[in-house]
Amino acid sequence: MTTATARAYPNIALVKYWGKRDSTLMLPLTGSMSMTLDDFPTVTTVERQPDASADTFELGGEVVTDEPLRRVAEFLDLVRERSGVREFAAVRSKNEGPTAAGLASSASGFAALALATSKAYGLSLEPADVSRLARRGSGSATRSIIPHFAVWRAGDDETSVAEAIDAPDMRMIVVVVQARQKEVSSREAMKRTAATSPYHQGWITTTEEALESMIEACADGDFTRIGRITETNAMRMHAAIQACDPPIRYLAPQSIAIFDRIRALRDAGMETYGTADAGPNVVAISRPEDADAVAKALAEFGEVRVMAPGPGAELLADSEA
Ligand code: DP6
Repeated sequence: MTTATARAYPNIALVKYWGKRDSTLMLPLTGSMSMTLDDFPTVTTVERQPDASADTFELGGEVVTDEPLRRVAEFLDLVRERSGVREFAAVRSKNEGPTAAGLASSASGFAALALATSKAYGLSLEPADVSRLARRGSGSATRSIIPHFAVWRAGDDETSVAEAIDAPDMRMIVVVVQARQKEVSSREAMKRTAATSPYHQGWITTTEEALESMIEACADGDFTRIGRITETNAMRMHAAIQACDPPIRYLAPQSIAIFDRIRALRDAGMETYGTADAGPNVVAISRPEDADAVAKALAEFGEVRVMAPGPGAELLADSEA
């Protein structure tokens, strides 16, 4: 195949990935666990260009250069190395969700890119191999290959892949909070946390424990335990990040107000828990039957979307040019 199109969805971690043990192989310090969303997909087409002298990258119809192009080109280099095909490619990508909302677009982006590129360059990969490949583009992309719920083990280059895990059905209520300033990228902030946060070691130890407890809670179908682990793990990640030098604070006043409302809902008997990635958006989780009520209660804070467990990365089309 010389052209392939793939679609992948973002994922939100319930036990977070925050830090690398090897930034070339993109091996995480700890394992993590996530739910793949059923909306905001990225659709990416990779078309080999036998006569081109460089890769090109278009996002939402706009030509992209500099750092994002460099990351895509480096990723394509890995696939060229493996396939033995040296041709450059034209990459066209489209995010269906609001990219500005910062909803894990690097996860869906590199997951879709990994699947489309491997097909376009003639590699025939099992989902575990696509997951391993996606990891090299962005850590969280490792998990977006997998439908519904995924565990990504720390492992080594061979074993650091995501696998499906059964978990009770739940919903994610995403509250999009307007960012007040340009954030430090998660890549940069992870490095700073490792280098300067006094809570870094505590983060590693407690996340390893959290993942094991999460796996047990999922096996037991215990939503309450899943929720508690999720919120505590997110708070610990943000605590470790805020303790950097210079400090980094991703949560906005509005984000804190949402976490307070989530707790108030809980106190009033509505079981919901919150998490947040490297940005001001807050994601609440609930049982499916409570999702609309939680969404209604959080609507005053921003645009609210209810998401169910979504599909893994899928090939939409491939062809010989
Ligand atoms: C807070 O996967 O974006 O969303 O591997 O450097 O590309 P790189 O980082 P990225 O980091 C995601 C961090 C997080 C937590 C998570 O998704 O587990």
